[in-house]
Amino acid sequence: MHVISSLDRMRAVLGHWRARNERIGLVPTMGNLHEGHLDLVRAAARRCDRVVVSLFVNPTQFGPGEDYQRYPRTRAADLEKLGAASCDLVWTPDVETMYPLSPGFSLLAPPALSCVLCGEHRPGHFDGVANVVLRLFQQVRPQLAVFGEKDFQQLLIIKRLVQDLALAIEIQAWPTRREADGLAMSSRNQYLNEEQRVAAPQLYASLMDMSAALAAGEDWPAVRDRAWQRLEQHGFTPQYLAWRSAEDLGAPQPGRPQRLLAAAVLGPARLIDNLALDGAPINAAIK
Ligand code: PAF
Repeated sequence: MHVISSLDRMRAVLGHWRARNERIGLVPTMGNLHEGHLDLVRAAARRCDRVVVSLFVNPTQFGPGEDYQRYPRTRAADLEKLGAASCDLVWTPDVETMYPLSPGFSLLAPPALSCVLCGEHRPGHFDGVANVVLRLFQQVRPQLAVFGEKDFQQLLIIKRLVQDLALAIEIQAWPTRREADGLAMSSRNQYLNEEQRVAAPQLYASLMDMSAALAAGEDWPAVRDRAWQRLEQHGFTPQYLAWRSAEDLGAPQPGRPQRLLAAAVLGPARLIDNLALDGAPINAAIK
């Protein structure tokens, strides 16, 4: 497995692979890898001859007062996990390699997708994600890139980026890996103390309850309020509980894919999760 932080060196290795017509897959990460990330690596390996995993904690997607400084950096453990997975190249650029001009060119994500839900609570976050992902795509030029559904809004924005800028990259979405108690795997789970960790699966449990209540024909405002109170009782400060179109995050449309999305702060951690709604819930419930 190559571990590379120089763009020229990476291009040389990628050049050899391309000359042999090998298909290249990319899994962008910020490191601190868990089984959810390794699922993405395995998914890429099934579809590609070579897998590149990037480890880069991207400063432009963190807002003032957010966890950029304390975000867990676990390079040695990450390399060990990737060495045991089907990874061929680990791309570990530093900030100057990723952003050689300061200030440099900058991309703005479409506000309808990037200023709602998480974007409302993390202004500029998705612009930062779009900027780093476009740069990673340009550096690696993969045929396939794999992203987790855990960050569902991010996934939609990246799909739009590829569509809007006509990038020849297939985006593959991969389902969220969960702990045995339902909590979505996330690097930020390790910020939780013991008591908060016990409460944390309530976020997913609330999504499941909201889904069942909608399927049973209950009205959305009542469903949302009940879940909101339940989360508060377990020590969360909810930021949003939303029922949206899974295609554009607008109002859910009958007969079209729909998603429940949630974000809530629990102690020092901001947790997010989401759930596909099976089948189209009753139209009458859409308000
Ligand atoms: O999902 C993440 O870990 C990050 O947002 C990503 C896509 C690696 C960009 O920094």
